[in-house]
Amino acid sequence: MFLLQLFSVLLLSLYSISSASDHTLSKGSSLSVENRNDVFTSPSGIFSAGFFLVGDDAYCFAIWFNEPSCGTNCTIVWMANRDRPVNAKKSKLSLLYSGNLVITDADRSIVWATNTVSQSSVNLHLHDNGNLLLCDTDYGVRILWQSFDFPTDTLLPQQSLTKYSQLVSSRSRSNYSSGFHKFYFDSDNVLHLRFDGPDTSSIYWPDPGLLSWDAGRNTFNSSRIAFFDSFGKFSSSDDLTFRSEDYGTRVQRRLKMDFDGNLRLYSRENRSNAWIVSWQAMSQPCRIHGICGPNSMCNYVPSSGRKCSCLPGFKVRDHSDWSLGCEPELNRSCSRDEIGYLQLTKVEFVGYDYGFFHNYTVQMCEELCSQICNCKGFQIIFSQRYYPSNIPYCYPKRALLNGHNSPNFEGDFYLKVAEPSPSYNSTVEEFRLDCSVEVVKLLNRTYSKSLENGSLNFVIWFACGIGGVEFLVVFSVWFFLIRSQSEGYLCIETTCFRKFTLSELKKATRVFSEGIGRGGGGNVYKGVLSDHRVAAIKQLNEANQGEAEFRAEVSIIGKLNHMNLIEMWGYCAEGKNRLLVYQYMEHGSLAENLSSINSLDFEKRFNIAVGTAKGLAYLHEECVEWVLHFTGRSPGIEIEHERLVTWMREKMEDATVKHSNFWIETIIDPKLEGKYDKDRMEILVMVALKCVNEDKDDRPTMRQAVEMLLLHENGSESI
Ligand SMILES: *[C@@H]1O[C@H](CO)[C@@H](O)[C@H](O)[C@H]1NC(C)=O
Ligand SMILES: *[C@@H]1O[C@H](CO)[C@@H](O)[C@H](O)[C@H]1NC(C)=O
Ligand SMILES: *[C@@H]1O[C@H](CO)[C@@H](O)[C@H](O)[C@H]1NC(C)=O
Ligand SMILES: *[C@@H]1O[C@H](CO)[C@@H](O)[C@H](O)[C@H]1NC(C)=O
Ligand SMILES: *[C@@H]1O[C@H](CO)[C@@H](O)[C@H](O)[C@H]1NC(C)=O
Ligand SMILES: *[C@@H]1O[C@H](CO)[C@@H](O)[C@H](O)[C@H]1NC(C)=O
Ligand SMILES: *[C@@H]1O[C@H](CO)[C@@H](O)[C@H](O)[C@H]1NC(C)=O
Ligand SMILES: *[C@@H]1O[C@H](CO)[C@@H](O)[C@H](O)[C@H]1NC(C)=O
Repeated sequence: MFLLQLFSVLLLSLYSISSASDHTLSKGSSLSVENRNDVFTSPSGIFSAGFFLVGDDAYCFAIWFNEPSCGTNCTIVWMANRDRPVNAKKSKLSLLYSGNLVITDADRSIVWATNTVSQSSVNLHLHDNGNLLLCDTDYGVRILWQSFDFPTDTLLPQQSLTKYSQLVSSRSRSNYSSGFHKFYFDSDNVLHLRFDGPDTSSIYWPDPGLLSWDAGRNTFNSSRIAFFDSFGKFSSSDDLTFRSEDYGTRVQRRLKMDFDGNLRLYSRENRSNAWIVSWQAMSQPCRIHGICGPNSMCNYVPSSGRKCSCLPGFKVRDHSDWSLGCEPELNRSCSRDEIGYLQLTKVEFVGYDYGFFHNYTVQMCEELCSQICNCKGFQIIFSQRYYPSNIPYCYPKRALLNGHNSPNFEGDFYLKVAEPSPSYNSTVEEFRLDCSVEVVKLLNRTYSKSLENGSLNFVIWFACGIGGVEFLVVFSVWFFLIRSQSEGYLCIETTCFRKFTLSELKKATRVFSEGIGRGGGGNVYKGVLSDHRVAAIKQLNEANQGEAEFRAEVSIIGKLNHMNLIEMWGYCAEGKNRLLVYQYMEHGSLAENLSSINSLDFEKRFNIAVGTAKGLAYLHEECVEWVLHFTGRSPGIEIEHERLVTWMREKMEDATVKHSNFWIETIIDPKLEGKYDKDRMEILVMVALKCVNEDKDDRPTMRQAVEMLLLHENGSESI
């Protein structure tokens, strides 16, 4: 026993000799990339910090688990300059006399800085929990800066993820620069995994087909904080909690946004053991977005990991970059006699729908897709879980992304192909991904959050000019949303939009020359996109929003759209510019399309209204414009927003004058055949009218609107 102690003391002292002479850096001193011994080590030797080789002669300042002889293969937990590595010669980390900690490249340019200022004595040291701290030590200890506040792709026990931080995956296993998958609190207060690629951006966890509260998340706690402990318990302000498989033992742990898009909690007993995965967010790796690129399919085999393959008739675009996906082998024709459809069973493509059409047979859906030249194929789903069930649901697709084959999927995909079709080879071209991380042994999962049952199709229609996104005369936005269980098919176009560059939009609008309207939020211009589609481009006035915040709103706005009304194609957030790109639409198609929804009873319509209001409550504290259309009735349909409100008010006043209680009957959709709850209907109308009050201050907040709507419920409903 005594010998062992002596040995460890000896070992520790050896450490301190071989690493930087001191564990701290003070004003005026620096760490050089050239000196191999210029490494900080935490007091018990668990973590090290220093310049780490990331490429040919390229270094980043990093913190890693101090493993004996890990060489270039250490477990990195933080990096300062991941996107700007420095040269192997003359680069330095220096603590300046001003109190600023900087990394300078060989040419003395500053590639990274903490931008801290202090007149007193300052030192930098590495704590045993992996936190690198810059402290002001003259009057007690004051933290000027700490690495825990700026995570890269890893979170350590006791380190908090907050509204100001996010985990961003690395580009690949060996390339540490910022990749495309993110773990962060979105503006709905919920932790999400998002693929944020060069062209598209979409959330894939929790299941975007579910509303947050159905995924067990709380959208109303705005503290936005999450952390986990060394026993393996994770908790977050959005009510996400989980325990690792090996919960209870105090071992080394790290939560990492892996380069393959999965979020994993790793643990190991001691330095000589390998890391094992003790929890992961996605159990089906092919459901992670942005994996294979367009026109391809992801396949997962547990023993070998993920594979991507091109769809029949497509070929790999670039063998060195799988994210570019596949392109057609032949030029497509739009002529009806030259196209056919190839059935791919149990194949699912997520997002990028032209809309959804219920009770459309394969033939009807095919006809629809054939009419649209750019329709790439369609999805038919025949699911018991949908409501109404036992009817086919049709989803024509404008892009084929996030494709995968899942045995449990209750639907097929029909790919548009050239006709007469060349005999497609069943041995489609496959290209392997670098995915060995996926065959890491996963401990048997015990955590599984059961999802709420009660699947219900929501057909929601209401008008809401979130942030003044009312468009032309179509003030009403009508939004279709389907919920189902975990296998649920994503049919809301959750945040699947193209990100346009400002120069693209300038070109499309010929530098914003053709104005076609002016809304509360900004001007609308007509433009022609590079693919010849005619677009309406709205330039938002209030552009002081951050990109993430703006994108979150865009995704909500996107959910409020339907192809028959205004389809949103994308957005642009560059510098201070915030733009939305819509399908250009002539007036009048609203009425045409409202008739296609029917047979919703009052209960559902009311639930829809409440659900929608709740959804908006977290986004917007002010109810901007919000009208419930009691959509089937003709006077209410063709008249525009202003007139609908006036019409309703007149009906109400008229009734008051006549002391009549029957005004509701005059506005209700006759399709309901009198089957509705009068009290609730009155509340709906009252709330709707309050929300469109001309005086901004008289309008309730969205949250108050929800409360009013729920006033008549039994109190079990909480918001
Ligand atoms: C990592 O990827 C980025 C982005 O593709 C690239 O610019 C950089 O050169 C790569 N770094 C290394 C070391 O390969
Ligand atoms: C790096 O670590 C991984 C996993 O522990 C191992 O499979 C690989 O062989 C190591 N590479 C080198 C160069 O040591
Ligand atoms: C919000 O979450 C934090 C962190 O989990 C918790 O401490 C706080 O009590 C929560 N607030 C409410 C109102 O639930
Ligand atoms: C560390 O791991 C090694 C190899 O698995 C094992 O033999 C040893 O007992 C472990 N030590 C502790 C303290 O758990
Ligand atoms: C496809 O069309 C492009 C331009 O329309 C043309 O340049 C190209 O040769 C065509 N390719 C084939 C295989 O027909
Ligand atoms: C579906 O369409 C068929 C034939 O058009 C019709 O008979 C049936 O009632 C429809 N079902 C529903 C639920 O709309
Ligand atoms: C399918 O591909 C294989 C290998 O590429 C080839 O030998 C075979 O002739 C192809 N079959 C057809 C019908 O094109
Ligand atoms: C995981 O554990 C459950 C119950 O403890 C067991 O039924 C199942 O077979 C285990 N799965 C694996 C892959 O070991």
